[in-house]
Amino acid sequence: MNSTNQSLKPITTKINQAGNLEIGGCDLVELAEKYGTPLYVLDEETIRAVCQDYKNAFKTYSKVNFMFASKALCSMATSAIAASEGFGFDVVSAGEIYTVHKAGADMSKVLFNGNNKSYDELSLALKLGVGRISVDNFFELSLLNEIAKSYNKTADILLRITPGIECHTHEYIQTGHLDSKFGFDLTQIDEAVELILNDFTNLKLHGLHAHIGSQIFETSIYGDEIEILVKEIARLDKKFGLKLNEINAGGGLGVKYTDSDCPPSTFTIAEIIINRLNECVEKYNIEPPALFIEPGRSIISTAGVTLYTVGSSKQVPKGKAYFAVDGGMADNPRPSMYQAEYYAEIANKPDFEPLQDVTIAGRFCESGDILIKNIKLPQLEEGDILCVYNTGAYNYSMASNYNRVQKPAMVLVNNSQSDIIIKRETLEDLTAHDEIPHRLRK
Ligand code: LLP
Repeated sequence: MNSTNQSLKPITTKINQAGNLEIGGCDLVELAEKYGTPLYVLDEETIRAVCQDYKNAFKTYSKVNFMFASKALCSMATSAIAASEGFGFDVVSAGEIYTVHKAGADMSKVLFNGNNKSYDELSLALKLGVGRISVDNFFELSLLNEIAKSYNKTADILLRITPGIECHTHEYIQTGHLDSKFGFDLTQIDEAVELILNDFTNLKLHGLHAHIGSQIFETSIYGDEIEILVKEIARLDKKFGLKLNEINAGGGLGVKYTDSDCPPSTFTIAEIIINRLNECVEKYNIEPPALFIEPGRSIISTAGVTLYTVGSSKQVPKGKAYFAVDGGMADNPRPSMYQAEYYAEIANKPDFEPLQDVTIAGRFCESGDILIKNIKLPQLEEGDILCVYNTGAYNYSMASNYNRVQKPAMVLVNNSQSDIIIKRETLEDLTAHDEIPHRLRK
């Protein structure tokens, strides 16, 4: 069965009577006029459809829990939507903990991940009742135990393990391979467990956690990951009499950035995970564990588009036709960081014939600031509104103020209504944290 992450565009995308692109019942050209550009637009219906896909796909495994990986896009409104779908959250910083808490999330459904959580961040997690902390290394075991002891609390933890699985995605977004910076190597698990059982008495271990990478198109490796987690749980039971009843398989399901991308369906992934989990429960003779899945990109990417206004252009003699837009690598660093490819249309000319091969350049002072290297589009002119698809994940969350440019606003669209969920930064915002030392003042 197909699922929403396999769509290139938000599911409500269409051409309206005015001849413009429309998402969530809102005319994109009107949104650009009303809110300015660059503008992140998020379609609520698409986000909810993906959440529903996950729930339907995994419904045959009763002990399943979903956590939205906030790092893909963390805002109060998106947190409120994910929470209303029954999702918990994977968070990786005090900022993400604070945001989901402020958005009203049930903190017992929150898992704190990360390879170098600070004293203050771990303290905040304990104070706000974060449900699980996935401990990444020996240093953190000892630090967290000390903090929990000082609060007279027990910290509920998972152990993040490196399952030794290589997935074929960009090198920077692989995480489960053996020389990854994340998690305990399989050969270090016993030592960690011994410390928890004998020394770190303010820690309670509930299960194991792994994450193999991001933008994954392979399916079978999820089965292999599940087998490694279950096998380890069974082994720890035999060796230490330890009954662990949670496994967290991380996130990673890919999305369709361009026509040539064919990500697997949520239903295919779920079937592989559940079948292998049921098989392994029998094979290794353990109680069926609670299963946690923490997708980020596949929840939020397809729902998002970015609108830009086309400005200057340059025809290199006998070379490329460059068209520059009013955003670029600061609002979407993915093309320059990972050679990521994107698809786009012109919001005010969606059904014009694409006749021209063009390069879409950003406005930032760097030659590498190219949003789309080569795309066929209708005749582009200054003032056209370019709609770049699939920018919901890891765009706003990795945005910067490079060149001292304000971060764009984000609007949520649904049922012909649009609401600002993140305000556009102002020039005052940019200097709000600056100080001039007294001796330099005139
Ligand atoms: N769980 C853990 C422990 C993770 O490290 C990640 C992502 C996720 C879940 C969510 O993975 P997803 O479902 O989004 O693939 N900035 C990169 C992606 C980095 C992903 C880091 N970890 C990009 O723009 O492609």
